[in-house]
Amino acid sequence: MLHRAKRLESIPPYLFMELRNKINRARAEGIDVISLAIGDPVEPTPAPIIEELCEAARRPENHRYPTDEEKGMAVLRQEVCRWYVQRYGAELDPEQECLILIGSKEGCHHFALAMVNPGDVVLVTDPGYPGYKPSIWFAGGEPYPVAMTAENGFLPDLKSIPADVRQRASAFYLNYPNNPTGAVATPEFLRTLVDFARENSIAICYDNPYIEIVFDGEKPLSLLSIEGAKDVAVELNSFSKPFNMTGWRLGMALGNRTAIAAMAQVKSNTDSGVFNAIQYAGTAALRECAPNIEEMLNIYGRRRELVVGTLNKLGWDYAPPKGTFYLWVPTPQGKSSLELADELFERAHVVVTPGSAYGQYGEGYIRFSLTVPDQRLEEAMERLSRALG
Ligand SMILES: Cc1ncc(COP(=O)(O)O)c(C=O)c1O
Repeated sequence: MLHRAKRLESIPPYLFMELRNKINRARAEGIDVISLAIGDPVEPTPAPIIEELCEAARRPENHRYPTDEEKGMAVLRQEVCRWYVQRYGAELDPEQECLILIGSKEGCHHFALAMVNPGDVVLVTDPGYPGYKPSIWFAGGEPYPVAMTAENGFLPDLKSIPADVRQRASAFYLNYPNNPTGAVATPEFLRTLVDFARENSIAICYDNPYIEIVFDGEKPLSLLSIEGAKDVAVELNSFSKPFNMTGWRLGMALGNRTAIAAMAQVKSNTDSGVFNAIQYAGTAALRECAPNIEEMLNIYGRRRELVVGTLNKLGWDYAPPKGTFYLWVPTPQGKSSLELADELFERAHVVVTPGSAYGQYGEGYIRFSLTVPDQRLEEAMERLSRALG
C-alpha cells in the first residue's frame, strides 16, 4: 500500500503532458492530428553542434561524471559570458555569475528551491508559463498572479500589486519575449522592474529562453543589460529554441551571485550536471551557429505571416506580437478559449492551447505555436478556414 506524497495533491498534471496524451489517443485512432499546441522546433539541430557532440562523445574522458559538476564546464561558462556581452551588452563573471543548467525549466525549479521559503508569496504573471507555479508550490511558496492585459501591452502593472503582497513577496517569475502572449518588454519596463525589486527586496527570476526570437526590427533584450539588475535578478536562458536543441537539455542561469551560488548548492545536491559532450556541443553552438538564428527567424517569420494572413481573411482583426514563435489570438466574441480549442480539434483536428490554461487572464485567447513544418501549417490553415469560414 503506497501513498503519494501529500505535496503532489495541490499540483495538477503538467499541461503539456495532458495535451500530448490527448493527441496520442487521437492518433492511435487513426486521426491525422496537426498539433500547434507545443513549442518544440521541428528543424534539426545545426550540423556543427552535432559534429562536436559526436567528436566529444568518442573521447573516453567525457564518459565520466561531468567536469565542474556543480557549475558546468568552465569552457562553456566562458563562452556563454562572451555571448552575453557581445550579443546583449551584459557583462558577467563566468566563475560566480554563471551556472550551466539542464534547460531553463530546471532553472525555474531550482530558483524556487534556492530562493523561496515556505509561506513566501511569489509573484507570477497571469497568463504565465505553466512551469512556474508547480516549482513555487514544491518550495512551499504561494504564487500571487499579477494580471497582464492587452491594454498594458501584456506587461504587468507593478503598481497594482497591493502593499501587503509586496511585503510578503520574496520572488517574481516573468519572461519576455513572453510565452504565451508573444509580447516583448521595453527597456523602460525592465528599469521599473529592477527598481521595484530593489525597493521590495524581491529576487527576480527572469526566464528568457525566447530572447533571440523577435521580429519587426525588435532587438534581443536581456534584463542583465539593465543597470543594477544583477543586484536583484537571475536570468535563465536556453539552447532549446535558438539552436533547435529542446531534446538536448542545455541551459544557463546568469546574474546575481548569491542566487547563482544558492542554485548551485541545490543542483550539487540534486544532479551531477550535463554530459560533457553536450556541453562541448553547446560551446560549438555559441561559437559557430549565430547565422542559424537568422535562418530560424526567416522560417518563423514566414509562418507567422501565413497564420496571420489566414486569420485576417477569416475576418479576425489580428496583429501579431513582436516576439516568440507563438501567436496569442483573441477568440471571437462569446466563445471561451476552451470552446474554441475544442471546436478546432473536433472540426479540423488542429490542436491549439486554450488561453485559460495559462491563468484567469488567459481566458478569451488561444495560442498557436509555429513549430510545425510549413506544409503542415498550410494544411492546418486550410482546415481551419474550412471549419470556421
Ligand atoms: C517560458 C519558458 N520557460 C522555460 C521553458 C523550458 O525551456 P527549456 O527547454 O530550456 O527547459 C519554456 C519552454 O517552452 C518556456 O516557454
